Amino acid sequence: MVQLVKAVIFDLDGVITDTAEHHYLAWKAIGDELGLPFTREFNEKLKGVSRMESLRLLLSLSKEPLSFTDEELDNLATRKNEIYKQLILEIKPEDVLPGIPELLVELKQNGIKTAIASASKNAFTVIDNLQMNDQFDVIVDAATIVNSKPDPEVFLRAAELLEVDPIDCVGVEDAVAGVEAIKSAHMVAIAIGPAEAFPHADLVLSSTKSLDLQQVIHAQKLKA
Ligand code: BG6
Ligand code: MG
Repeated sequence: MVQLVKAVIFDLDGVITDTAEHHYLAWKAIGDELGLPFTREFNEKLKGVSRMESLRLLLSLSKEPLSFTDEELDNLATRKNEIYKQLILEIKPEDVLPGIPELLVELKQNGIKTAIASASKNAFTVIDNLQMNDQFDVIVDAATIVNSKPDPEVFLRAAELLEVDPIDCVGVEDAVAGVEAIKSAHMVAIAIGPAEAFPHADLVLSSTKSLDLQQVIHAQKLKA
């Protein structure tokens, strides 16, 4: 049976714009202050993961056991967020990743709905700075959900608001935790990044440049 794609649900950070880099730089500043050996390679684990879980992962790099009070942990997470907020002030409409504007036009022309499913509490600021508020049918951010990726909640909530069955949705992610969330939601998963990092994705593309409607349909056929 041929299934039609009815909706495409996009992650935000690292898929619509390169804020994955801003998150990295902000955590790097905190890691450096604490003398932790935080690398780009380790940062891959933080992608798609909530702010507090990211902090927990960062602190796990310490050789000696660290004992922070809850208040101190909150302060560290808040400081990271302050640095991140400064960095995203500079985001402009031109910072949308290549291929995304054309894909959004194609999807609209073909009656396919669109949503953002983001783990970030800063999602609306980023989308505002990109001036893309009116380009998605639905936007779900971290403030509206209880369970972070890899839990499927944010993708399922987006599908529910779009009034589309999850099996007719394609999710696009740049994070391992995000691909897990899409698959747990029984959606088709397209990963953006190196093929070896995403064994569970239905289709992996090295960049958003090659993400078009044809690839979206191809990914769904691969899953079927
Ligand atoms: C995700 C990012 O989109 O949002 C993670 O991939 C980030 O790196 C998470 O930790 C939470 O973001 P924020 O803006 O709420 O700290
Ligand atoms: Mg991401």
